Amino acid sequence: MPAKDTYYVTTPIYYVNDVPHLGHAYTTVATDVVARFHRQRGERVFFLTGTDENSQKIPRAAEAAGKDPNQWLEEIVPRWREVWERLDISHDDFIRTTEERHVKPVQRFAQALYDKGEVYLGTYRGLYCVSCEQFYKEDELVDGKCPVHGIPVEHVEEENYFFRLSSYQDRLLQLYEENPTFVQPDERRNEVIAFVKGGLEDLSFSRTTFTWGVPIPWDPKHVIYVWVDALQNYITAVGYGDDDARFERIWPADVHFVGKDILRFHAVIWPALLMAAGLPVPKQVFAHGWLLVGGEKMSKTKLTGIHPLELIDQFGTDAYRYYFLREVQFGADGSFSWESMVARYNADLANDYGNLASRVLAMTAAYFDGMVPEPPAGPGPESRLAEVAAAAAGRYDERMLALDLTEGIAAVWDFVKEVNRYLVEVAPWALAKDPARRDDVARAIYAGLESLRILAILTAPVMPGTSAKLWASLGIEAPLAEQVLPGAAAWGGLRPGTRTTRGEALFPRIEVDEGAEAEGAGE
Ligand code: MSP
Repeated sequence: MPAKDTYYVTTPIYYVNDVPHLGHAYTTVATDVVARFHRQRGERVFFLTGTDENSQKIPRAAEAAGKDPNQWLEEIVPRWREVWERLDISHDDFIRTTEERHVKPVQRFAQALYDKGEVYLGTYRGLYCVSCEQFYKEDELVDGKCPVHGIPVEHVEEENYFFRLSSYQDRLLQLYEENPTFVQPDERRNEVIAFVKGGLEDLSFSRTTFTWGVPIPWDPKHVIYVWVDALQNYITAVGYGDDDARFERIWPADVHFVGKDILRFHAVIWPALLMAAGLPVPKQVFAHGWLLVGGEKMSKTKLTGIHPLELIDQFGTDAYRYYFLREVQFGADGSFSWESMVARYNADLANDYGNLASRVLAMTAAYFDGMVPEPPAGPGPESRLAEVAAAAAGRYDERMLALDLTEGIAAVWDFVKEVNRYLVEVAPWALAKDPARRDDVARAIYAGLESLRILAILTAPVMPGTSAKLWASLGIEAPLAEQVLPGAAAWGGLRPGTRTTRGEALFPRIEVDEGAEAEGAGE
């Protein structure tokens, strides 16, 4: 039997009743950064994303648009793919739950649970929010409306199959106990444990009041409850019920990234379903926070959704990727504002990083005809820089492994700031006026270029396009993709004599009228 040899990371699969907004892109970018980071460590990675198409929202959206549901899907799914492309998302697969490779194994899974007696027939009476695709109890509603979407819930009474979720309470609590990082961050873990301790009810496993969905194989007037079907994308995409060898090399997932609104499905229902089927559970479920607008979750339902392309067009792909991960502590809620994005772009990217690169490359061109100079032997003021680089690379590695993406990136920026400080202190532009100081200039320029090499590597998962440009400017022959961490970040990797080019500005400053920028910076 093959052993697991792949780091497997997933995004939720998105409801395609509308185009993506910043919230969806947030989950996807974070997952992409983690996937790229693990590839950079030399691991085999499988990164899955996709679309959740068996939801009632789909025929409803199609009807509102005067279209057939399948025609709707064929038109909307490419609009999601386009955004992922523009955001440089490096997924290895994109699963759609209407595909046969998903539907067939889902039916087999359902049959297996039914045959084991894990699923039984009953009647459901309750309240349902189609936006959440979830049942609610009366006391969970806010002013009689869905607590997440603020829209009216629907009264439902129908014949359903039920999954014996209630019988998994102890096994789930044992799972959280034995694997303290199964749910992260800790605050979310505590919420999940409290929820499960409060007692679990059996879960609706099928629906009968509509036909859009995956039919129950032994009773086709039922369709499988969309969440039961959707969660299985994580296994159907990697060979479950189809290619056992592949399945065993990839499953279980190392981490499912989800927003906190869908944590219970992933941390309670999903492991229980897998246990019922006799399959291994994922290693971790990480719930990030919400992007807020006016203090509330950004959403299309509330008309606060912002389309990612609006920001990508203005700031570029890499600045977009950087901004959300740096600005919002990963795991916590955070607000987006245009002003804070401009302020961060200009401060961190245009000034600290972009200017650093253009200054160092310009000096290399001016003083050494573009060639990486040979630094004189023996320690100089750059020894401290080398130490800071090593510390930053170490902290980056440790924080990224812990999925603390915000601090991982911050560690790299501590280094960026240190390089800037070093250059101001040594002032190679002043030394260059004195021919007797040629060695000191060579030392400083080498240190600057070597710092850029390390920065191009460390920032590559977050800003792949910028790193590729900087790498090309540095003229290093070995491909950036082959730089394996942690070794590649060790000081001294840049070879003297390498021919650099100045390249275009990495992050041209965004000019805003001064009043607006000052307001943003003060927020
Ligand atoms: N289809 C289900 C997931 C099934 S996974 C087996 C779903 N889809 S969704 O399109 O509604 O949302 C997908 C993800 O986007 C969730 O992780 C959700 O938290 C995230 N976001 C949607 N709005 C968000 C914000 N405003 N902020 C951050 N992320 C949010 O749920």
